Amino acid sequence: MDHRKDAGVTRVLIPEADIHRRIGEIAAELDDDYRDRTPLMVGVLTGAVTFMADLMRAMTVHVIIDFMAVSSYGAATHSSGVVRILKDLNQDVADRHVLVVEDIVDSGLTLNYLLDNLRRRNPASIQVVALLKKDKDDAFGVQVDRIGFHIPDEFVIGYGLDYAGRYRNLPFIGILDPHIFSAK
Ligand code: IMP
Repeated sequence: MDHRKDAGVTRVLIPEADIHRRIGEIAAELDDDYRDRTPLMVGVLTGAVTFMADLMRAMTVHVIIDFMAVSSYGAATHSSGVVRILKDLNQDVADRHVLVVEDIVDSGLTLNYLLDNLRRRNPASIQVVALLKKDKDDAFGVQVDRIGFHIPDEFVIGYGLDYAGRYRNLPFIGILDPHIFSAK
């Protein structure tokens, strides 16, 4: 087995420099949005960790951070919208300005569930920022206020995103060799 972290990557879709340039732009917009406020940034584990770490450091306003982990019950229940909370927030969101930080929005199911759940806790506001959004029919019509990059409907890895738990530590967004999927 090849232990290099880029083994199996056929193509770089978004280079590291492009990611950082775009994060700088988004951070400037968020600084404007939260000029007189301290947002509670809610990172969705595990994929959003890298994006969250870079985004919050590019922002100039104070932020408070927390994390949630959610998991769907698998293919059979995916379409029914069943999502499970694996780790909840450590703090109350009532009257807070919540900024949800997601790595990627695919069908929108995960985010849709998360937002429903958070809205019931009466935050002062909710904004959603996602690094990536796949170009496809958005069945869930989910709220995403700021998007880093629109990407084709392909499976991507790197910069927090995994395949079978690996590739999260690649500094860029890449496409995986289809043989890797079939070899599993
Ligand atoms: P959704 O609920 O279909 O929008 O899927 C969202 C979650 O699925 C993301 O937070 C990721 O964890 C995972 N996911 C979706 N597409 C990809 C991908 O292309 N690569 C890696 N993970 C993905």
